[in-house]
Amino acid sequence: MKTLADLLAEGVSGRRVLVRADLNVPLDGETITDDGRVRASLPTLQQLTGAGARVVVTAHLGRPKGAPDPQFSLRPVARRLGELLGKDVKLAEDVTGESAQAAVESLRDGEVALLENIRFDARETSKDEAERGALADELARFADAYVSDGFGVVHRKQASVYDVAKRLPHYAGGLVLAEVDVLRKLTEDTERPYVVVLGGAKVSDKLGVIANLLTKVDRLLVGGGMAYTFLRAQGHEVGQSLLQEDQLDQVRGFLDEAAERGVELVLPVDVLAATEFGPDAPHEVVAATQIPADRQGLDIGPRTRELFASKLADAATVFWNGPMGVFEFEAFSGGTRAVAQALVDSKAFSVVGGGDSAAAVRRLGLPEDGFSHISTGGGASLEFLEGKELPGVSVLED
Ligand code: 3PG
Repeated sequence: MKTLADLLAEGVSGRRVLVRADLNVPLDGETITDDGRVRASLPTLQQLTGAGARVVVTAHLGRPKGAPDPQFSLRPVARRLGELLGKDVKLAEDVTGESAQAAVESLRDGEVALLENIRFDARETSKDEAERGALADELARFADAYVSDGFGVVHRKQASVYDVAKRLPHYAGGLVLAEVDVLRKLTEDTERPYVVVLGGAKVSDKLGVIANLLTKVDRLLVGGGMAYTFLRAQGHEVGQSLLQEDQLDQVRGFLDEAAERGVELVLPVDVLAATEFGPDAPHEVVAATQIPADRQGLDIGPRTRELFASKLADAATVFWNGPMGVFEFEAFSGGTRAVAQALVDSKAFSVVGGGDSAAAVRRLGLPEDGFSHISTGGGASLEFLEGKELPGVSVLED
């Protein structure tokens, strides 16, 4: 696989380089609430501009429906990127139309242009190879080299991630290389004990990764909304808590398999049970096996926080994906904070994966350098750990 270093060695001064970045940040109106992904994209862009390249960046934001939609404009991102790079970033008003062409034409050495949200063009995510190919052709005309640096999106077989790499000399960017390198340590010769903490709302999003991890880890700690499906599968009532009835059989299978393989599967022993879903919802600590019928669990309880911390204390390797509760509400952020703190306190090689967990770490004010690596990829890091092929990485190998 050719890398950014190879491209720089070939010389990029005066050449146009197309970079696929993952700038999919959470927004509150026009305000970026977590700019982690923008910051993570800087090193590759700085190296290219520093070497005199004319850099064209393409990225997505959210999931617009294949047509321009102002609420998904990359305008706030262009502004933030410009601030962080210390140079103006021109935002094209379209993806490959007149505005994009003009922005690309006007680039001088060391300058950066950002194309408008690539998902404003329905061809980006099309299942039809010819449709994606047509968009990829248009993108390819903007540059004579392609750098893939949007790790968070490499699990998507999309025009700007996959098809364009088939049309231009292609190179892995620094972020993609760093992420793949770290995640490999979680799948090959992993130091033990290897503990994985999974949370988040839906167990159905994590089926593949759980199945794969059960063959690799020593301990699996399950919190967050998905824990209630596990508790229900064990026969406990979960009241109004999140429950995926259709996943119960699958989860029972995981419980059996963990027992057979000698994997310690650790579930919450207590939860914060609230009368409703909301930041000020009245709540109390109850045993995880006795959630009242009219209550819903919104966070793991204090005994579970201690239990999880003790199960993390002797770990040599930890991967954590998914919050333990509704951390956006202060009253229900304690569980997520406790897990994050346990990782900061541990000597383990610790990887935080996923947009939500990474945002939680920063939002709760934990030091980013307290973790060995905070991945920019949510779905991408999970699919890597599932052992799935990542189209946006394998296409770089050709
Ligand atoms: C992410 O947020 O995980 C990436 O940016 C990919 O976004 P997507 O799930 O909408 O493809």
